[in-house]
Amino acid sequence: MADKESSSLEVAPAKAEEKKSWADVAEEEESEAELKLKELTVSDNNGSASDPGLLEDPDDSQIKAVVSGDTVYASALKFEDLNLSDDLIKGLYIEMGFSRPSKIQAVTLPMILTPPYKDLVAQAHNGSGKTTCFVLGMLSRVDPNLKVPQAICICPTRELAQQNQSVLLRMGKFSGITSMCAIPSDSSNFVPISKRPPITEQVVIGTPGTIKKWMSARKLATRDVKILVFDEADHMLAEDGFRDDSERIMKDIQRSSGHCQVLLFSATFNETVKAFVSKVVKDSNQIFVKKEELTLEKLKQYKVRCPDELAKLEVIKDKIFEFGQKIGQTIIFVRTRESTQRLHKTLVQEGYECTSIQGAMEQADRDKIIKEFKDGLTKVLLTTDLLARGFDQAQVNLVINYDLPIKYGTSEPDCEVYLHRIGRAGRFGRKGAVFNLICTDRDQMIMEKIEKHFAHYIPEVPNWRSEEDFEKALKDAGLL
Ligand SMILES: Nc1ncnc2c1ncn2[C@@H]1O[C@H](COP(=O)(O)OP(=O)(O)OP(=O)(O)O)[C@@H](O)[C@H]1O
Ligand SMILES: [Mg+2]
Repeated sequence: MADKESSSLEVAPAKAEEKKSWADVAEEEESEAELKLKELTVSDNNGSASDPGLLEDPDDSQIKAVVSGDTVYASALKFEDLNLSDDLIKGLYIEMGFSRPSKIQAVTLPMILTPPYKDLVAQAHNGSGKTTCFVLGMLSRVDPNLKVPQAICICPTRELAQQNQSVLLRMGKFSGITSMCAIPSDSSNFVPISKRPPITEQVVIGTPGTIKKWMSARKLATRDVKILVFDEADHMLAEDGFRDDSERIMKDIQRSSGHCQVLLFSATFNETVKAFVSKVVKDSNQIFVKKEELTLEKLKQYKVRCPDELAKLEVIKDKIFEFGQKIGQTIIFVRTRESTQRLHKTLVQEGYECTSIQGAMEQADRDKIIKEFKDGLTKVLLTTDLLARGFDQAQVNLVINYDLPIKYGTSEPDCEVYLHRIGRAGRFGRKGAVFNLICTDRDQMIMEKIEKHFAHYIPEVPNWRSEEDFEKALKDAGLL
């Protein structure tokens, strides 16, 4: 996705390669069960709005689980119901500030933590707390006295791997469990893999290329790996995603470790990926959400018809900067690396403060941009689809699709990417707004297809020039 990593082992990474990927395209490329069905009901008193100080539970009340085999799982209304160690309970309450599991956590955690530790495919809305499911899964299965890798988590981008590790470090703060991020290193801090000692950290979180590299260099032993997680699993198993690497890693680990529990998490699983997933993890527990029910209720989406490209720029300057900074943080999605850079340059030249990130940047610069945004030092971030998936920042309440997401080399919408992009706002049941800038007939057609796909009508901001119209849209979204 961000940048697929080179497979050569000992070569210091040169500048990031321009490669085909949905997440972050370069401009020059543009032209182109037999299951025993048993429904697990989840109590609805989990997440009542009457609890002050708590957000309403994210919009995942439609979660229905299909469990394989005879194991009966009771959903957990409290973290205490999960037999977690005191150290992890402390991490959840004190460090994370959580008070009870969200629905996806209530349903999947018993499945993850109960022997015989069946594989799990779990789909739940963006921002509904999937990370906690697999992080708690990994932390619970690790034997703290065994100083070898026991859990591996694979993510599509280095940014997501780092974010997931930081959640694991916080949640596991009192457990003493160690972790390591397996992501490509910059030329400045590059150490050839052959010169590195074998990994002794208990949890390894990383991108597939680096994990594969470390495994084949025999620095990442997988003999004791009990749990293997794929975050954004649909992309990790998609043919145009990371399927080859993911399958190889999965097979190698299964071979060396005997039984290893596989967890696949994402907000999206299209039919093609679903069919493939069922073949990869055969006897698994499964949770899916209908695509028509995936749109976040608290997130108001709008389209803004702009007569030309210049009008799109005017909307960003006069409306988004104007309102966005008053209400929180904004992410603007742009299609290519070059147009992200160009838009950034134009805005800065005209005195608008913002930052941008895309896959051709040096890794240290990417880290800096993310840190500044996470620390709230910057308010408006321009990005390619590098940050479309998983990026979690509660203060983001405005998402702009400067360009609509399309499938690589086509004029077809990428509905999954659309959903992930807009899900950067409205985290864990928060309010948010999305503005889709529509310029050409093609944009209009793409937007219509997205609306149809999710069976969700998107209203229009009547006049792109009108301050009042944007104000009303943001008021309707509950942001003003
Ligand atoms: N039980 C909980 N109580 C309160 N907040 C929670 C709880 N679980 C998760 N959160 C918060 O909700 C936010 C979203 O969680 P997370 O990033 O895991 O979502 P996600 O389901 O992985 O979304 P995406 O599909 O977009 O990656 C995080 O900031 C997290 O700290
Ligand atoms: Mg996530």
